[in-house]
Amino acid sequence: MGSSSLVGRTAELGRLDGALRALDEHGTAVLVVGEPGIGKTALIMETARLAREYGMLVLTSSGLLSEAHLPYAGLHQLLRPVLRHADALPGPQSAALLGAFGQVDAAVDDPVSVALAALSLLRERSWQAPVVVIAEDVQWLDPATVEVLTFAANKIGDDRILLVASCRDNAEIVGDTRFEELRLDGLDSGSARAVVDTHAPALDPRLRERLLAEAKFRYSFGNALTEEESDALHERWAIPSPARPLFEAAAAALSPHSPAKVDTANEDRGPLLLTMGGKDHTVPEAITKSTVKQYRDSHAVTDLVEFADRGHSLTIDSGWREVAEACLAWLTKQGR
Ligand SMILES: Nc1ncnc2c1ncn2[C@@H]1O[C@H](COP(=O)(O)OP(=O)(O)OP(=O)(O)O)[C@@H](O)[C@H]1O
Ligand SMILES: [Mg+2]
Repeated sequence: MGSSSLVGRTAELGRLDGALRALDEHGTAVLVVGEPGIGKTALIMETARLAREYGMLVLTSSGLLSEAHLPYAGLHQLLRPVLRHADALPGPQSAALLGAFGQVDAAVDDPVSVALAALSLLRERSWQAPVVVIAEDVQWLDPATVEVLTFAANKIGDDRILLVASCRDNAEIVGDTRFEELRLDGLDSGSARAVVDTHAPALDPRLRERLLAEAKFRYSFGNALTEEESDALHERWAIPSPARPLFEAAAAALSPHSPAKVDTANEDRGPLLLTMGGKDHTVPEAITKSTVKQYRDSHAVTDLVEFADRGHSLTIDSGWREVAEACLAWLTKQGR
């Protein structure tokens, strides 16, 4: 493998690389979704690099706001490198495709013929080598091209074609199709540090630390929030500290005689409620669920309430009321 400038993203790249390597068995359509700047293009370019290394044909297009109103502008950009092979298609298909691009005198009145012709052209090419079709920024792609991609995504299951589309957070553009979603969250703090160092080595050190602190906060606490809300919470709540109480508590869990040890078998205690966010990066689901299990030797009430779409900031972010109300409802049920 050649060199890569992609940092982190091992799992995400592994998934796309897996799709590339599986192309001899089946085609796949993947929609990479994530907010602006999260690293969609970086991941997709690395995938394209791998694909070229494997000897595959890579076709790319990128939605442009200025061309969003031009039917098939994106499709033309995608197919331009292979358009000379359109002659090999059956006459009506070739006419539909070239007519859509204004290259022959044919009225574009049949989007299905255009979509079929585009798919046939990709299939014909994929007999030579697997084809990777990259459609970046579909939020700005002309709707006619989006329809062709959606059509193709539903039909490439048996082809050596990988369709990778990217989109900011409005994935509904491509509707209910065979696109598998690959959602990008923020990088972990080590990777974020490496990206800042590579891309902005001359950054003022205080600004660098602030950026990284915000990114770290976002990853650990605010990952289910908008960047704006996460940064605002960081500004309001974060204070520099050695986090000693946290580490003391964590270390105590390893010591059987720690004074902080909890008697989980205690029958006389009051009811206990644990709350968790399904997207919590700091105390992930598995930890909270195993904590609940540790209390199973007691008959005293132990309950868990899960907030599926929330992260570690769930009690301090704008959704705090939902958590507070669930806790109050639980307390009422306990007769407290
Ligand atoms: N994992 C990464 N490794 C190295 N560089 C990265 C990584 N993620 C992002 N970057 C860099 O951060 C910048 C923004 O990333 P990128 O352009 O990929 O974001 P994007 O999600 O495509 O944004 P947009 O929605 O605006 O297109 C780029 O300079 C990119 O190279
Ligand atoms: Mg991009």
